[in-house]
Amino acid sequence: MLFYPGDGIGPEVIKESIKVLNALSIHQITIKESLIGRTAFEATGSFLPESTISLVKTSDAVLLGAVGANRTSDITYYPGPETALLKLRKLMRSSINLRPIKHYDSINTNGSNVSNVSNVQGTDILILRELTSGVYFGKPKNVRKLYTQNNAVSLEGFDTMKYSDSEVRSIAHVAFKTARSRKKKVLSVDKANVLEASKVWRNMVLEVSKCYNDVRLWNNYVDSAVIEILSNPKEFDVVLSGNLFGDILSDQLSIVSGSLGMLPSASLGFNGKGMYEPVHGSAPNLTHRNLANPIAAILSLSMLLRYSFHLNKQSTMIDNAVDNILRKNYKTADISNGKRYVSTSEMGELIASLIRTAF
Ligand code: IPM
Ligand code: MN
Repeated sequence: MLFYPGDGIGPEVIKESIKVLNALSIHQITIKESLIGRTAFEATGSFLPESTISLVKTSDAVLLGAVGANRTSDITYYPGPETALLKLRKLMRSSINLRPIKHYDSINTNGSNVSNVSNVQGTDILILRELTSGVYFGKPKNVRKLYTQNNAVSLEGFDTMKYSDSEVRSIAHVAFKTARSRKKKVLSVDKANVLEASKVWRNMVLEVSKCYNDVRLWNNYVDSAVIEILSNPKEFDVVLSGNLFGDILSDQLSIVSGSLGMLPSASLGFNGKGMYEPVHGSAPNLTHRNLANPIAAILSLSMLLRYSFHLNKQSTMIDNAVDNILRKNYKTADISNGKRYVSTSEMGELIASLIRTAF
């Protein structure tokens, strides 16, 4: 297993995941550390150094903290640290991105005011985001100079949203198969009233659905889907979407969990390798303050143990420890509702020590 602390709060939250991994004393996993993102650029002149790429090729699983640029407001046209993450996803062929959204009774989400308590209790949604295609990767993609009649320069940026029917077919089968072992419901999110890529998406999802008569399928446009889900989150099960819509939906649905700091993710390829990362970014405003919530990273480790190493028992131990610590009312600042909170390292230590006592 390889881990990349990355940028911003990445190293702080990954440190706590490693603490939890050590508490489990799993001997079959060897870990190596490598550089990615802005941190890698500062050390080597590359956001994704060759040494990192060659380690990825020999690793079964990758645990990543975060990558990000600590920008103020403007953005350069040069490739930023995010390109390293996108390249890595492509390199690992991790096209299936699982983003579970759970409600924890011990986290008060009333303040968010999007749904009443009875609708949110028991929510267990799995966002299935296509991760290596769509508008993130479609070509052509560039910024070009346009010359107006009086020879003034104007800039035009363009991206291309593309989905082939075979790409949609693969992820749709994963969605329906996954739903079969859950609540047997799939909501597919698109913008098929406007986008051609979404029309191909919707038609293929409908076609695949015919092989799964026991699973119920809905389709909805992305703008309306968010409201539909947030009005009654516990009614939803698997939410299938393309790359861009899945990115937007997952941040929005974090309201159900109380914070982005609670959302883990797993990116799986068809080659059995996996990449695991918290859904949150590098959060420059929280960096070096021991304030970030390490639970998203710790739960990403839990997904890593389950999906890449089939260590279901250890994965469940982590999930239960997180649940128990929250129930004992230990919260990081993001989920404390203005009340007393614990630091990043305290939260990691609380979870790790609960696991140690189980041995
Ligand atoms: C995410 C992030 C990334 C994405 C960025 C950092 C490239 O927002 O994993 O959700 O857009 O996929
Ligand atoms: Mn995102």
